[in-house]
Amino acid sequence: MTPLANDTLLRALRREPTPYTPVWLMRQAGRYLPEYNATRARAGSFMALAQSPALATEVTLQPLSRFPLDAAILFSDILTIPDAMGLGLSFAEGEGPRFARTAADDVAIAALAVPDMARLRYVFDAVAEIKRALHGSVPLLGFAGSPFTLACYMIEGGGSADFANVRRMAYARPDLLRRLVDINARTVAQYLNEQIVAGADAVMIFDTWGGLLATDAWRRFSLAAMRAVLAALTPGVPTIVFTKGGTAWLDDLAASGATCVGLDWTADLAAARARVGARVALQGNLDPLVLTTDAATVAREATDVVRAAGPAPGHVFNLGHGIVPGTPPEHVAVLVETVHRESRVLRAAA
Ligand code: CP3
Repeated sequence: MTPLANDTLLRALRREPTPYTPVWLMRQAGRYLPEYNATRARAGSFMALAQSPALATEVTLQPLSRFPLDAAILFSDILTIPDAMGLGLSFAEGEGPRFARTAADDVAIAALAVPDMARLRYVFDAVAEIKRALHGSVPLLGFAGSPFTLACYMIEGGGSADFANVRRMAYARPDLLRRLVDINARTVAQYLNEQIVAGADAVMIFDTWGGLLATDAWRRFSLAAMRAVLAALTPGVPTIVFTKGGTAWLDDLAASGATCVGLDWTADLAAARARVGARVALQGNLDPLVLTTDAATVAREATDVVRAAGPAPGHVFNLGHGIVPGTPPEHVAVLVETVHRESRVLRAAA
């Protein structure tokens, strides 16, 4: 393995000192970039884009050629797993994801199995191709949805305002939800390990809908499954867990086995650091809507996040959730520049 020219992200994840705070952004490749929209139009659909290793590589690299980001993230989607299980994924123009079939009752859930990883070969081929194209410049992040978040889409057959059917199942049919989440956990572990074999330098678990659950239900249906995944991953590879809406469960997340905990924008980063001490690295947590304001506001708010994290090792700058379409790319440039500069200033003053 060739050493990385810029391994700041991996050092920060391991809580080693770095000259500045590394920054990458959730959804850094996406619809706010005109070049992404052009490539997507050429591909014809989101799935055609994600299933072509050459095109997935092209869009993964697009934000890196504009901004001095400290990591690349695999261009794919968390819903590749239920698609490989046979649920039939599509993304209609201007709408969210849709599945042709759901996994919401005894019969459908009993029929599910861990899919042959060969059905997800296109993802691992994309990881390998992106890794080659990066030429050892920055680390490559792999990712998967949390077993529970995948279950949310599988039960509802798509997105939902409140995932009411999922929450009902957690209380009325815990056995059924448990079975679904267990199959997802075994699949996610294999899937992430294959991404690591293909070249991912670190991996992130997106527990986007974990925050919808009551505390006890989250521990039983989301945290337990994420812990099982983390325990099954190739040792030594840094891991990030992100439960959106999970600020109240910081202690559980810090003890999950992950090397880093991602925080959404509602979290008080300074308080979170004081609470977890040196146990884990923290990632976050600027409100993505800040990027839709103006350059001066972006610089001021980004500086506040850098200062809240403090000079201690172990902060990875990110947004508290994904970049929204309509974000001016110039504001992302201001953000990255501000984080790099202000984190150097902070270290010099410490
Ligand atoms: O972060 C990155 O740049 C890597 C690529 C990435 C995508 N999806 C590309 C994508 C990642 C890491 C994801 C993860 C993902 N997908 C999550 C977890 C993170 C989160 O945002 O909470 C979830 C819940 C999904 C499911 C999903 N995929 C939804 C709800 C949608 C539609 C709504 C939306 O934001 O567009 C998608 C589609 C999707 N995935 C797009 C992209 C760039 C837009 C599709 C398009 O081009 O039309």
